[in-house]
Amino acid sequence: MASSFHFLLLCSLLFLIPSHSIAKKSFHPKALLLPITKDSSTLQYLTLIRQRTPLVPIKLTLHLGGQLLWVDCDKGYVSSTYMPAHCGSSECSIARSKTCGECYSGPKPGCNNNTCSLMPDNPVIRTSTDGEVAQDVVSIQSTNGLNPGKVVSIPKFLFTCGSTFLLKGLASGVKGMAGLGRTKISLPYQFSSAFRFHRKFAICLSSSTTSNGVIFFGNGPYVLLPNIDVSKSLIYTPLIKNPVSTASSYFKGEPSAEYFIEVKSIQINEKAVPLNTTLLTINKEGYGGTKISSVNPYTVLETSIYNAFAGVFIKELANITRVASVAPFGACFSSKNFGSTRVGPAVPPIDLMLQSKSLYWRIFGANSMVQVSNDVLCLGFVDGGSNPRTSIVIGGYQLEDNLLQFDLANSRLGFSSSLLFRRTTCANFNFTSHYN
Ligand SMILES: *[C@@H]1O[C@H](CO)[C@@H](O)[C@H](O)[C@H]1NC(C)=O
Ligand SMILES: *[C@@H]1O[C@H](CO)[C@@H](O)[C@H](O)[C@H]1NC(C)=O
Ligand SMILES: *[C@@H]1O[C@H](CO)[C@@H](O)[C@H](O)[C@H]1NC(C)=O
Ligand SMILES: *[C@@H]1O[C@H](CO)[C@@H](O)[C@H](O)[C@H]1NC(C)=O
Repeated sequence: MASSFHFLLLCSLLFLIPSHSIAKKSFHPKALLLPITKDSSTLQYLTLIRQRTPLVPIKLTLHLGGQLLWVDCDKGYVSSTYMPAHCGSSECSIARSKTCGECYSGPKPGCNNNTCSLMPDNPVIRTSTDGEVAQDVVSIQSTNGLNPGKVVSIPKFLFTCGSTFLLKGLASGVKGMAGLGRTKISLPYQFSSAFRFHRKFAICLSSSTTSNGVIFFGNGPYVLLPNIDVSKSLIYTPLIKNPVSTASSYFKGEPSAEYFIEVKSIQINEKAVPLNTTLLTINKEGYGGTKISSVNPYTVLETSIYNAFAGVFIKELANITRVASVAPFGACFSSKNFGSTRVGPAVPPIDLMLQSKSLYWRIFGANSMVQVSNDVLCLGFVDGGSNPRTSIVIGGYQLEDNLLQFDLANSRLGFSSSLLFRRTTCANFNFTSHYN
């Protein structure tokens, strides 16, 4: 009773403050920004956020289809603003937690009584664990689309505590994973509800391990040097829902938080790859279909798709000398015979055909061929075995130097195709700030 009385009082006081003084005090960014680096040994895409009080930089592996932000709370979590989410609280219901627990080795971050939990997931080792839901301060740079702007903070950012063992398989120095998936508590959802901006975000992964790519949260412009607004002229395709979770463990009835699109067929050099199209649709058990993944370094194809795909590609490159395969790839060529173009080695274009014949995602040499040594180039797609959960997993290498915008409100994906055509790359965001 007492607290609801205070709440009412606070509301009426806020009403009395003239609105212009509120506007002056609080800065409302229209978009936010995170840098992304590519780790050369794991090929994971990493980002850095500041969290806790006092703020510390936390290195995280990017998980495009991940449900949430999780960090290791077992080791080194020190913060005066850590707040566990108590069972029955609104935080637990926003997080859609179904479990309430006790902990015997606390109290400490990650171990408190009467708190709800979720399952932080590491898709690299396909392992998840039970973790306390909590809130803490997160601070992040805003942007006008051209440069980084003021740093803003979110005092009660929801996340889940992972454990040290869950970091296995992640890049060195990483302390958790940044989930950008389709849930109410993923980074993009929390950022857009904290600042009431468009429920959209865009990723632009750099192909270089030495210069940063970028994620924009919010609407465009997304400007890359030399002054190219890549939010213009995107091609759109619907985002499809998979009714069955694709996480390492989940409750019955939970949908997937990952981003699926509908690829209807594949063409190479405008010739159709003969495929079993049943594999391209998602069935009732959640099998099949095409998803986009930042944790797979290369696109993974179900075996029959891979064989047909590689077969057509090899046939179309009949005049080029094939050399012994280099794992994990199955089709490698002598690089001496290739011409070069603005968009990489001159090879037949690969088209992922979408909702209509005139709509496709075209993949050029820079995204299809991987230089494995001085004189060997391999087709950068891998065989995912038969009966995998998802038939086509579009991986990081195929996403690099393409901007992908996830428009959550309209459930659609906007993509730019290769930015190399437009004489820019994902490493061309101007990270010089006026506010340093
Ligand atoms: C949780 O409650 C149990 C008793 O029910 C107690 O043994 C334990 O120490 C408590 N843990 C924490 C973290 O407070
Ligand atoms: C196509 O794939 C589906 C799903 O795996 C399978 O049930 C069916 O037998 C396949 N059809 C052919 C002709 O191979
Ligand atoms: C090989 O064939 C492709 C497609 O027909 C052509 O573009 C390319 O120039 C040829 N390369 C060589 C080395 O003949
Ligand atoms: C990057 O942004 C800074 C700050 O606005 C500006 O001074 C600088 O000229 C920009 N760099 C380029 C190459 O445009």
